Amino acid sequence: MIISGKELSAQLKSDMAQEVATFPEKYGRVPHLVVILVGDDPGSVSYVTGKAKASEVVGIKNTTIRKPENISEEELLEIIARLNADDTVDGILVQLPLPRHISEEKVIAAIDKSKDVDGFHPLNVAALWQKQECVLPCTPKGIIKMLKRAGVEISGKRAVVIGRSNIVGLPVAKLLLNENATVTIAHSRTKNLPEVTREAEILVVAIGRPKFVTADMVSEGAVVIDVGVNRDPETGKLCGDVDFAAIEPKASVITPVPGGVGPMTICCLMENTIECFLRKQQK
Ligand code: GUN
Repeated sequence: MIISGKELSAQLKSDMAQEVATFPEKYGRVPHLVVILVGDDPGSVSYVTGKAKASEVVGIKNTTIRKPENISEEELLEIIARLNADDTVDGILVQLPLPRHISEEKVIAAIDKSKDVDGFHPLNVAALWQKQECVLPCTPKGIIKMLKRAGVEISGKRAVVIGRSNIVGLPVAKLLLNENATVTIAHSRTKNLPEVTREAEILVVAIGRPKFVTADMVSEGAVVIDVGVNRDPETGKLCGDVDFAAIEPKASVITPVPGGVGPMTICCLMENTIECFLRKQQK
């Protein structure tokens, strides 16, 4: 079975749109998400455009602030401080990666925790690992939603995550653990990686290398979640970290690239923005 993140996210966005349509009457306004894009990397431009389009579908107000590559760290931090203080802004997202002269760590920590729709702020990360109320990072949250919608039982399963980034690998491992999977976190330097991945009943790959996972690394019937977004060096087309054509016949469930995890990430960003907005209304 191929799980279409595109289809599922369209359904979820349509449900959210209905909910958001009730907000003006209930709360006097709709949620407002501000996305900051520094520079003009085509990948980042495309992500940010996707976020603006999804906001439109859901009925969330989106403001995209575009700044040149050479913006100073100080100026970027000033923009964030202004947005933190603005009561009409519910979510702030700074598209990563940032140019090298800007500290991503400082920028992420500067965003008010209650507006951190990415769930990257250190206090949100700490809350996640301590099982306290937090904003869940969008990609891991989207993966768990997809698994549940596909009817995959997570509890009791052996899960292997390849990748240990703060954005995907580590938080998705934690969310799988919360669902009572037994989780191994592997990476590109894991010895005998195929031996480890063949143990996986659920395999999540977030390593950023085209066709890194080959058919010999996956056992029959495994659930395969491909978080990679790469260019195929041969065709120039978008492709995942998994050799889809070779693995699809072996997997019980697999996500395609494009149209798998990517749309779910954006969908969860919409959900997080609504969550931050509603938390503010309840204060
Ligand atoms: N760059 C790649 N993925 C993401 C994401 O989920 N959030 C942000 N802010 N930047 C990204």
